[in-house]
Amino acid sequence: MIEPRGTALTTGHFEPGARFAYYAHIVNSASFYLHSHHNAGPVDPRIFGGFLEHMGRAVYEGVFDPSSRHADKFGCRIDVLAALAELEFTVMRYPGGNFVSNYHWRDGVGPVETRPIRRELAWGTIEPNSFGTDEFLGLCERTGWSPMFSVNLGTGSPEEAADWVEYTNGALGTDITRKRQSGGNSAPTRVPLWCLGNEMDGPWQIGHISAAEYGSKARQAAHMMKLVDPSIELVVSGTSLPDNTTYLDWDREALEAVGGFADYVSTHRYLDNWSNDTAAFLTSGAAVDQQIAEIDAVCRYVAGRRRSGRRPFIAFDEWNVWYRTRNRSGTWADGAFPAHLVEEVYDLQDALVCAQFLLSFIRNADVVKIANIAQIVNVIAPVLTDGDNLLRQSIFEALSMFVGRRHGISLHVGYDGGQVPSPDFGDVAMVDGAAILDVNHELHVYAVNRSVDETVELEINLAGADLEMLSMDVLHHSDPATQNTWEAPNAVKRVPGEMSNGARRVMKLPPHSFTAATMSVS
Ligand code: AHR
Ligand code: AHR
Repeated sequence: MIEPRGTALTTGHFEPGARFAYYAHIVNSASFYLHSHHNAGPVDPRIFGGFLEHMGRAVYEGVFDPSSRHADKFGCRIDVLAALAELEFTVMRYPGGNFVSNYHWRDGVGPVETRPIRRELAWGTIEPNSFGTDEFLGLCERTGWSPMFSVNLGTGSPEEAADWVEYTNGALGTDITRKRQSGGNSAPTRVPLWCLGNEMDGPWQIGHISAAEYGSKARQAAHMMKLVDPSIELVVSGTSLPDNTTYLDWDREALEAVGGFADYVSTHRYLDNWSNDTAAFLTSGAAVDQQIAEIDAVCRYVAGRRRSGRRPFIAFDEWNVWYRTRNRSGTWADGAFPAHLVEEVYDLQDALVCAQFLLSFIRNADVVKIANIAQIVNVIAPVLTDGDNLLRQSIFEALSMFVGRRHGISLHVGYDGGQVPSPDFGDVAMVDGAAILDVNHELHVYAVNRSVDETVELEINLAGADLEMLSMDVLHHSDPATQNTWEAPNAVKRVPGEMSNGARRVMKLPPHSFTAATMSVS
């Protein structure tokens, strides 16, 4: 049972200590205790990354659609890119995903008319190859995304992977770089970050092999890739699904085999609301904390066994809510191109779980250095297109609340407040939180109220400093199952939140809501 720590009595203007009613619910009070010296270090901007796979309508009819009236001179959709620009993605993972395990990058370079049309085995579709390496890197240049490539360790070879590094990063006059130059790209576009395959632990992965076999193939690829460009960083393919029987063992074996070439280990998570239980679903961010803690333990173990002070960090390079479109008909194209694959329509509660993913990454800033929401358009994405129209989904709103509020040091959050029961994790904090202290003496506070029916007055205490609220956004709707749809595109939208003035700041968190606030510190 949850004991209310405050009582709803009257409506009225909200002042610290005042008693008020909000939706006539029980009002709890809670506090975040913060101190600049208690921190997890700088938040790596790369945790605000995205993922663009050749899948469904992500590339074709997503970012790239020369036939659209919104197409720019490169064939890219201006409206889609403008919406994505609002989210300020930092790194962009490409080109897969399961796709990459049957993708040969040479198919996607050179004159477009000579590029082969291939059968695509991962999603059962056709790959026309009219969008490839140069098109993606050009897009990165125009959007400011830092490219993060994954190489094919399914049907591809270590040599093919190293050749790709040569194509993008090489400055010597070789046959491979001349091919790039003949396509108009004289100077290399350096790709700083490379994934050694995708979800190689998954039986569904094309070319799936054991951890030992993967480890030796990945090490060969890593060796050659770093010989081509020693400055690149590498991500080892780790556990794609904690339900896999090889969870953690795979990560350990792969990391041990790749040894000192491993800068990061990849981990993936898709949360779901199969049981249609909002209260339980809103606690599922605890699974992300647990997964990070467990993978982190493996990273430390492997570094310890190597007697190495250099540990691999975590690249959480696929994350989202995904369940409604996971059946075969949802994920299989039956030869159609481009197919409407996994076009999940999100609701408010999904957005609240997405926010919890990012709060967990921020809290774990010392170990999570890269994270990529999967994906960015049409395929399990914040943005949907339909013909020339575009829709911002509920999860778009949650992501947008981090923009302008994400640079600085992640502060440990001392929480004092109510708990809610979780089916898998016992009691968890009613308010899931994170805080970032900016160099400009600004404090950014994030809070998800996991309670389905209780309001929380959240007091922020930064070692007693004087805080002045500069901005506050709240994402809430009385019905957590509300979606943004073509008919009601603005049903789930962030709105300015209610705050109070005074030395201690109190934020009013409606039930099942996400709040992000920025305060000045003096
Ligand atoms: O993001 C969709 C798919 O999910 C990716 O292709 C794969 O890596 C994961 O299983
Ligand atoms: O949906 C197809 C595959 O099935 C996904 O890539 C994987 O995550 C899942 O197990």
